[in-house]
Amino acid sequence: MDAFIPFAAIAASALFILSLMWMSHPSTARRGVRAGEIGMAIAIVGALVQHEVVDYHLIIIAMIAGCAVGIPMALLMPMTAIPQRTAMSHAFGALAVGLIGAAEFYKHAQPQFAGGFVLWALMFEMLLGFLTCTASVVAFGKLQEILPTRAIVFPGQRIVNGLVALATVAVAATLALDPTQTYLFPVFVGLALLFGVLLVIPIGGADMPTVIALLNSYAGLAASAMGFALGNKLLIVAGALDGASGFILALVMCKAMNRSFANVMFGGFGAVAASSAGGKDDRVVRSASAEEAALQMENASSVVVIPGYGMAVSQAQHKVSELYQALTKKGVDVKFAIHPVAGRMPGHMNVLLAEANVPYEQLVELDDINPDMPQTDIALIIGANDTINPSARDDPGSAIAGMPIIEADRARSVFIIKRSMNAGFAGIDNPIYYNANTQMLFGDAKDMVGAIAKELSGGGSGH
Ligand code: TAP
Repeated sequence: MDAFIPFAAIAASALFILSLMWMSHPSTARRGVRAGEIGMAIAIVGALVQHEVVDYHLIIIAMIAGCAVGIPMALLMPMTAIPQRTAMSHAFGALAVGLIGAAEFYKHAQPQFAGGFVLWALMFEMLLGFLTCTASVVAFGKLQEILPTRAIVFPGQRIVNGLVALATVAVAATLALDPTQTYLFPVFVGLALLFGVLLVIPIGGADMPTVIALLNSYAGLAASAMGFALGNKLLIVAGALDGASGFILALVMCKAMNRSFANVMFGGFGAVAASSAGGKDDRVVRSASAEEAALQMENASSVVVIPGYGMAVSQAQHKVSELYQALTKKGVDVKFAIHPVAGRMPGHMNVLLAEANVPYEQLVELDDINPDMPQTDIALIIGANDTINPSARDDPGSAIAGMPIIEADRARSVFIIKRSMNAGFAGIDNPIYYNANTQMLFGDAKDMVGAIAKELSGGGSGH
């Protein structure tokens, strides 16, 4: 067993690194997830056979309780709720880190540890752990729309946040220097929890995915600091990987949304939720049928399909794949334009289209497809809204001004599949619906795409 423990640490660390590497490409992502799972299983076994573990009763009870929450969460929560699910996982993970830190703190609440490295590491990890816990719960509430999704701002907010941050750090430092003042410990925990709430309430729902990536990073850093405090090398490595990858993901997402990192953290994005249309609405909306859409598509030479959240909700990806086959058979060049934040999680569209066996080479990223849009005969938008909203490009007053979009409106003809004129995630109007070259295909994405595919394969009503 003694030989197994360091082996487990090295094997798990290597698998975590491979997992991250493989997860960076959709074709190897499944292998990456497996590697991460196996690494975690090895790490858990390695932890359980440590000499310090003298009684398994409590551990077994905790494992059963964890499985009782985790398994239904994994099985029952739909893929479209992944950001919320991730936020909850971070909240639980961060709470665990905070609580283990609290237990270790009380073990070290003696004068001989005062000002030592272990106490500084513990205070740092508890600060991040507790604040990440409440921040993740607030992020969950916003994404699940239990809490208002808009940015909650009040006068003097930054000053209040700054003072709470300073007070938290001051109490943490006091405890690191003199851990015998245990009466301060609940104050420290309360301040850290409060700071987590204050940190996330001024951030609007549209920036939540970025915030979740950042909280992921905090939870990782907390675990890494815990590794230093406990002398556990595996925790140091796994935490550092988590911290670094979460931070990089947050930066990548900021870039995708054209938002500065500081702006996301201190901005108040989503606070301006009003539509820029204003006044009496006399704009005209044109709608079409599946038959009309099919007829135009089979006579087109190029079609760019732009999927969004609605495709995920209605699980239309298999019908989309059928449509792709039908059009390709008729010699139409079909490409898929993928916006980095389409759907509700990074890579959401890629995962769904891969599941439906749409060839990966047909998926084109935003920067590469936009120059082709003016030469495209038809842009077929399937349940996408914010990611194709021209006001992000044309209206500096829009709540999503500056966010890169797929320029579907520049195609010769535009078909948009959605159920109503309702807004998307950002809650704002979309001028593309009223353009002269736009035709709305009102209906559920799966039904509508299925109907168009059927028409194209000759199985329609034959109008
Ligand atoms: P959204 O802007 O959210 O719009 C989706 C549209 O799909 C809605 O307007 C809705 O219109 C339509 N829809 C819903 N159910 C449908 C169904 N069954 N059939 C047909 N249409 C349906 O989607 P998007 O363009 O993909 O943009 C994503 C948004 O989510 C961005 O604002 C992004 O910032 C945000 N976000 C992204 C992520 C990540 S990381 N991807 C995570 C969280 C949030 P109807 O109701 O009229 O049908």
